[in-house]
Order: sequence, then structure tokens, then C-alpha cells
Amino acid sequence: MIILGIETSCDETSLALYSIKYGLISYITHSQFLKHSKYGGIVPEIASREHTKKILSLFKKLLFQSNIHQSQIDIIACTGGPGLSGSLLIGALFGNSLAFLLKKPVTYINHLEGHILVPFLTSKLIIFPFLSLLISGGHTQLILVKNIGEYKILGETLDDAVGEILDKLARSMNISYPGGAIISKFAKLGISNVYNFPRPMIYSKNFNFSFSGLKTSVLRTIKNIKNIKIQDKYNISKSILEAIIDVLKYKVIKAIKKTNVKIFSITGGVSANKQIKKSFKKEIKKKTFYKLYYPKKEFCTDNGVMIAFACAIRIKNNICYTSNKYLINIDPKWSINNL
Ligand code: KG4
Ligand code: ZN
Repeated sequence: MIILGIETSCDETSLALYSIKYGLISYITHSQFLKHSKYGGIVPEIASREHTKKILSLFKKLLFQSNIHQSQIDIIACTGGPGLSGSLLIGALFGNSLAFLLKKPVTYINHLEGHILVPFLTSKLIIFPFLSLLISGGHTQLILVKNIGEYKILGETLDDAVGEILDKLARSMNISYPGGAIISKFAKLGISNVYNFPRPMIYSKNFNFSFSGLKTSVLRTIKNIKNIKIQDKYNISKSILEAIIDVLKYKVIKAIKKTNVKIFSITGGVSANKQIKKSFKKEIKKKTFYKLYYPKKEFCTDNGVMIAFACAIRIKNNICYTSNKYLINIDPKWSINNL
């Protein structure tokens, strides 16, 4: 059985073919970041237009590079949400039109479920329960994964997501969008603890996060530097990441102790950051948890592979709800509490 995964929730047009029997066949991703960088963030209208322009040619390239004919596709999995409504619509319209043409069923996959499951892409087995830290441009959530489709959000950000903070702070230092990856690079050249930025809500009684106080503090610091030099940017980047890592680590360790779960995974665009992974790896040695999972770098940010893979896992668990009615069923605010 071959699944076509379609991801268009934000600014990546990404398609993948996944075989239930043989695993990942191939994938293709077109990132629109150059189109958005001059605006310092994603412009929804541009995002949907770019998806519309690219999706058909990407699909043709995917078939060509996979040596698969479109008639071999058995099921089409579209991202149903959360995400930008215009962007989600393009993926859903494309997926349903193709399915109608091929007379194949369609299913909708929750984007966050895709992120949560993709660290296990090459694992033979997924052991439950596990704790997942989802850190992306749109989300910062600490989730207890009890089983496929059974997710409990233990805590989430009350304001900005970690990736959003990195992108906004990067912009204030004139670093182009998306800033997360560049802040990560800058941080490697920075000196530790030059700035003592706040760690908001670190000791709060719950598992929620808040990063707006950190953002304000960094913005104030940047404003007070008269002639900001490149080394200042390196040092600021380093201190931003140190503050974020401290908060994330403290909450994760607390959640592990409370739930007694021994498997932990990090996922989402920000999990591409090496410093974050390194700091969590240290916790294995301390036996905070036994096993740490994270996606391969190319599957940290949005991709069609995670959509096709989540669909495959759902099929294997008999909880993949398909339809031949070709309905456009997107939900820009689809929560994983509600699958
Ligand atoms: O998962 P994703 O592609 O989109 C959402 O679902 O939101 O995440 C995008 C976010 C952006 O904020 C980007 O700055 C951040 O991931 N990001 C990184 C890195 N690469 C991308 N953040 C830190 N370090 C990176 N290497
Ligand atoms: Zn995402």
C-alpha cells in the first residue's frame, strides 16, 4: 500500500510517498522562505499563492524521482490542520482532486501528530507512553503520548512559540527570516552568559510556558546597544538559547518525574537546533530518561513525510478514517486533544 502525504499548512510545499511494507520511498519539499524573508515573517496570501504555483510540478517530480506511476498510489493523506487556512485549502483541494481522478480515498492528518510521530520514522516499534516536546514556529507544547491518537497536552505556551520568538528576535537583529537556524549558528560563536535574560515561568506550578518576557528583555537589550556589532549578535543569540534551554529542560524534567515516563522525544522546527539536542542528551547520562528520540534534520521542519508516516501508523493501528466523498475538511485550529 502506497500513501501520498501532502503538507501545506504553512510555508513549505512538501509531498512524500510512503509504502506500508517498505517504508519511505521518496519526498520533495519546496520552501518559500525567500518569498517571505523580505517581509520578516510569513505572509499568508503569498504562502497560498506559492503552494498553488508549485504543488503540481512537485507532484510530477516526486513521481519521476520515485519511479512510481500515479495509479500505484492507494491513499492520499492531506494535512487537515492546524495551520494557515489558505495554505491548508490548497493541499486539501489538490489532494481531493487527485483522489477523485484516481478514484482513491482521502484522509486528513493532524499536523502536530505528524510532528509527534516522525522521530520514530525508522524505529521498528513505538513504545508508549512517551513524553513529546513539540517546539516549532507555531507551537510549544509538552505532550503525554499515551497511544496513537491519544494525546494529553500537559502544558503549552501562553503567548509566543519558541520558533516565533527566535524569528522575531532575529528580525530585530536584522537577521533574515526564518531566524531560528541563523540564531543557532550565531550562538555557536557566542560567549556564554554575557547577558542574563529572564527564564519566564520556569518555576511555575504547571507545565505551561511564556516567552514574551524574554522577548521584551532581549529587545530592550538590543535597543540599548548603540552600534551593535556581529560579536554582540553572537553573544545575544547564545544567551537567548541558554534562557530557552533552561526553561524547556526544567519543565521536561519535572514532567518526566511527574508522569514517570522514561522515553522522551523532541520535535518540530526548533528541534533542528543542536544545542537543544545536546543539552537533552546529557539527561540520558543522568538517567532522567532512558531514550531520546528526535527527527532527522530535514524532518524537523514541516514536511510531507511526517504526514504520510502518521497515516501509515494510523492504518497499522486501524484508526485511519478515510473517505471517498472528497470533502474539504480543514480546521486551521485543529487541536491534538481532538483527534
Ligand atoms: O515545524 P516548523 O517548520 O513550522 C511550524 O510548524 O511552525 O518550524 C519552523 C520554526 C521556525 O520558527 C524556525 O525559525 C525554526 O523552526 N527553526 C529553527 C532551526 N531551524 C528552523 N530553530 C532553531 N534552530 C534551528 N536550527
Ligand atoms: Zn510544523
